[in-house]
Amino acid sequence: MSETESGTSLDERYRQAARRCLDSVVWEGRVSPADAFAELGRACRELGIDDWDTYGKGGPVERVEREVAELFGKPDAVFFVSGTMAQQAALRVWCDRRGSSRVAIPASAHQLHHENDGPRLLQGFRFEPLTDQRRPATVADLTAIPGHDRLGAVQLELPLRDPGCLLPTWEELTAFSATARELGVPLHVDGARIWESQAWFARPLADVAALVDSMYVSFYKGLGALSGAAVVADDATAAELRAWRQRLGGQLYRMTPYAVSALLGLRDRLPQMGEYVAWARALASELTSRGFKVVPDPPHTNTFQVFADAAPEALLTRALAFVESRRVVPCGGWWEARTPGVAVTEVAIQQAALAYDPAEVAGWWAELLG
Ligand SMILES: Cc1ncc(COP(=O)(O)O)c(C=O)c1O
Repeated sequence: MSETESGTSLDERYRQAARRCLDSVVWEGRVSPADAFAELGRACRELGIDDWDTYGKGGPVERVEREVAELFGKPDAVFFVSGTMAQQAALRVWCDRRGSSRVAIPASAHQLHHENDGPRLLQGFRFEPLTDQRRPATVADLTAIPGHDRLGAVQLELPLRDPGCLLPTWEELTAFSATARELGVPLHVDGARIWESQAWFARPLADVAALVDSMYVSFYKGLGALSGAAVVADDATAAELRAWRQRLGGQLYRMTPYAVSALLGLRDRLPQMGEYVAWARALASELTSRGFKVVPDPPHTNTFQVFADAAPEALLTRALAFVESRRVVPCGGWWEARTPGVAVTEVAIQQAALAYDPAEVAGWWAELLG
């Protein structure tokens, strides 16, 4: 990380410049808290929300739980303020029932890299790597685990984010689910970006949910909510999830603001998810023709990785100059890839990108290469 004379790193200067911009190609443009709260107020009126939830009961929390359960064709859904908490609760329920704390999980899973070791320290999970490969897990990965039939649970991440948001084929997924069922091992899915995966499977979300015992979904990635998550499951499991939500301190007196923003995302963003994916694929194809390498190619979802034969500092320096002169954020940060001399970045396409032409944006990226 390069430091300037004032001690601020180039990455931080880029982040600060990006935060000052209203327009962005990746993720979302900046919305002030005042504007976001005004939008939530409008949404309450439009959606006819005139009641609060109280400790997660009633109001928009119950409404979002109902909508999500229906979308996924599951008997119930439980709202959580974070996915981190939601997944601790889900895996804890399965492990307690099975009398085993062993959970098979991809080596790149969120719980192992971005949660400060909380799930292991707080719940005593013993995580076993389902796969450490940069590909979705297969039946062979599951059955290669010693004592796989005695696991407390197995978790898939759909899509597997760290290697570029990779998805299995429908046949691979159904085979995995059938094997977990034959073994009697509960299958939990980290579906933080499941909305973004529907175009790949080309099936209703309920078809995906029918293959799993529980699935966590997130409201604040492609759906653009303030925060929040839900777990879809059967009635008995949902009742236990609510008990764990309370034990974990997740039963806030009011969760209404998060739930309203989730309802807004379901109403306004979910129908556009296919467009985000199509736009992402169009950009990926334009970037490939300009000498960038894209993974996966074509992207499975709205999110993918881009590799460039350049130093991250050189790309970031030009990106910073671009943001300062053009007032649009063309890309996120760049990091050193595993291959020396190659830089990598993640591209997540959401609502904000739709205002631009993928070919024009790819032209901006070509400028970054110098
Ligand atoms: C794949 C995945 N799982 C779980 C989480 C955790 O969600 P939360 O930030 O709501 O705790 C995230 C958040 O980015 C994620 O990307």
